[in-house]
Amino acid sequence: MQGKVAIVTGAAGGIGAGIVRGLGAKGVKVIGTGRTEAKLKALKDALGSSMDFDYIAADITAEAAPKAIVDKALASFGRLDILVNNAGSFNFGPVDSTTDEMLDEVLAISARAPFRLSREALAHLGAGSSIIFIGSTWGIYGPPGGGAYSFVKAGQIGLMQTMAAEYGAKGIRSNYIAPTVVRTEMTDAYWELDFFKRTNFELTPADRQCTVEDVANTVAFLCSDEAGMINGQTIAVDGGISTTRYVAPEAVFAERK
Ligand SMILES: NC(=O)c1ccc[n+]([C@@H]2O[C@H](COP(=O)([O-])OP(=O)(O)OC[C@H]3O[C@@H](n4cnc5c(N)ncnc54)[C@H](OP(=O)(O)O)[C@@H]3O)[C@@H](O)[C@H]2O)c1
Repeated sequence: MQGKVAIVTGAAGGIGAGIVRGLGAKGVKVIGTGRTEAKLKALKDALGSSMDFDYIAADITAEAAPKAIVDKALASFGRLDILVNNAGSFNFGPVDSTTDEMLDEVLAISARAPFRLSREALAHLGAGSSIIFIGSTWGIYGPPGGGAYSFVKAGQIGLMQTMAAEYGAKGIRSNYIAPTVVRTEMTDAYWELDFFKRTNFELTPADRQCTVEDVANTVAFLCSDEAGMINGQTIAVDGGISTTRYVAPEAVFAERK
């Protein structure tokens, strides 16, 4: 991993900043991107001399963003080995109450933008490279209210798999991580709500909640040579919520009014 160069989108967000730190700990140089320059600068200041980090503020949905982001990586660090498509916006709502604006926003940020950025990056990736999607468990099962969000998160799996097929033989691996809920700005407002606890923690056979580091460690592993035979995979980092029918005993035996 030492000396490799990564682009991380949504780098100053909760999971993004964890991914930056996780890659930095392995000696990877990182270009972070996101819309808010102040957040990226604060991250760079916080990282200090602990790793090589530079950034470019850009709305990832802008026409010129993919080329500008890749050009920045090449200008700052001279090569490109890893792309982590992490930026995203949460959009909760049943299909029948999802507006065109909600749909278009999610499609733009989580489908069109990562497609265009992956295409731009591919021209510079060689053997030993990785493209990672930070998808969601909501892309691999059907939660009520998933609406546009589940739709694009599932769609990212299709893009990941076709790139795995297309570029695997060139040594470029593509994989998708499906985290369960992690406490970040995206989920903070829901975290203490009863329905959120019931539909997440009470259905997860784990003794703790998922952390940013759980996701970041998986990214670092998937980008490493140790994961060299892992291509085209969807890896859930979810404590088992997506593959079991677990219900916490207190929920099973709870008296319903
Ligand atoms: N937190 C969870 O429970 C959870 C669970 C499963 C999957 N995920 C996925 O994990 C990823 C990161 O989420 P998070 O929890 O870390 O959320 P977050 O803290 O809200 O971070 C989201 C990041 O995306 C960036 N972003 C959003 N729209 C953008 C745009 N148009 N252009 C450029 N950057 C944009 C934001 O930066 P700016 O605001 O500065 O643009 C921010 O850095 C998302 O793809 C999310 O769907 C999260």
